[in-house]
Amino acid sequence: MSSDTLSITDNRTKKTYELPITDDTIRTMDLRKIKVNDQDFGMMGYDPAFTNTASCRSAITFIDGGKGILRYRGYPVDQLAEKTSWLQTAKLILDGELPSKEALAAWEQEVAADGMVPSNFHAMIKAFEPNAHPMGRLIAMIGALGTFNTDSKDVHSADVRKKHITRLIAQMPTLAAWGFAHSRGEKFIDPDPSLSYSANFLTMMKKGGDPNYVAHADVVKALDVLFILHADHEQNCSANVMRSIGSSHADPYSGIAGAIAALYGPLHGGANEAVLKMLKSLGTKDKVAGFMKGVKDGTAGTRLMGFGHRVYKNYDPRATVIKGLASKVFEIVGERNPLIDVAMELERIALEDEYFVKRKLYPNVDFYSGLIYEALRIPVEMYTVLFAIPRTVGWLAQWEEMIQDKEQKIARPRQIYTGSAERSI
Ligand code: ACO
Repeated sequence: MSSDTLSITDNRTKKTYELPITDDTIRTMDLRKIKVNDQDFGMMGYDPAFTNTASCRSAITFIDGGKGILRYRGYPVDQLAEKTSWLQTAKLILDGELPSKEALAAWEQEVAADGMVPSNFHAMIKAFEPNAHPMGRLIAMIGALGTFNTDSKDVHSADVRKKHITRLIAQMPTLAAWGFAHSRGEKFIDPDPSLSYSANFLTMMKKGGDPNYVAHADVVKALDVLFILHADHEQNCSANVMRSIGSSHADPYSGIAGAIAALYGPLHGGANEAVLKMLKSLGTKDKVAGFMKGVKDGTAGTRLMGFGHRVYKNYDPRATVIKGLASKVFEIVGERNPLIDVAMELERIALEDEYFVKRKLYPNVDFYSGLIYEALRIPVEMYTVLFAIPRTVGWLAQWEEMIQDKEQKIARPRQIYTGSAERSI
């Protein structure tokens, strides 16, 4: 008997089956052979929320949640944050290699040249209530953008995919910034191809309210770092949605709209917004101990937002970088956000408290990011949009990999039917 197999004995029939093991994994399809008789459909795996099911093979992002490791294409995220620009890391995630100097310059130029959205978007964005949630608006705008890019339906053409990957990355900041301007009753600022990706985004957001606005180089760098840290996170909820929508061969605009919708939820990207609301509702350090007691016994009516993660059972490496970045940003803007003290007190208590220690709950990427956005005078409703912009790169890399993967088919999970047996009226 090969040692790379798993023997399963079905005690209903006393039969033993040998299933091959590859990459420490069995194919759940092999369980189908396990039947009580010929009419039996065969055994399935039951895994609500896919907590122990690999749905693909992927070479993009590696996470070791126990050790707190996150790497894109093999490079640790903290090194990328320190040593690369945002578009350099984006290209790495998409292509698998860091671009040469020339390739990077060409890619920067391609992205910068494709930032302008059709002028119809002026009227479309203005049709939203100014206080519409920016994520709801973004979902609609990206879906609409797909209707202006009908050739993107040709998902089997590598050239077409490449063109729309670049376009989506280039135009996402424009739609986000114009939506922001509309919510403030300010002028829409066109993208400026002479600026870097992050500087252009900040300028489109801020210049409508301040015609003399020039993005500070250190703030641009801070945003680059935040974008790098949020770029991809392997098979999370929204990446899974992107792959699932893409598996029906829908165009990538529809896939990205769906992925943004998944990110919107408070258990996923919406947590950064929830963290800031939580910190503001506490206001001062002295409220923290009582709140933590309420989180544990359920009377607070909320979890400790920005804490815990499906895969990290250690400090999220992104949180470490963001915590350091927060102090730098406070220096640049010349004021220390007092809510950082509330956040640090929450973290201090949680890291010592048996409830959190036992459940391996540590700060995640969202715990400190909101404090930086607040220091940059970005309103809380925009936080998840600031997550969606860089994550677009990860979603598109996941989509491209899925399209090229010959083993993939339309995503279609099974169910265990729990309704009535056949009835008649
Ligand atoms: N505060 C308090 N208790 C928590 C928290 C938290 N933030 N997170 C998990 N727990 C507890 C649960 O109540 C549960 O306790 P129990 O065993 O006594 O029932 C236990 O820890 C395990 O929790 P699960 O919900 O099973 O863990 P899961 O892996 O499904 O959830 C999640 C992960 C959704 C991130 C969760 O930790 C959470 O809700 N965190 C707060 C929201 C948040 O910060 N989300 C951002 C995630 S990062 C991202 O998407 C970018």
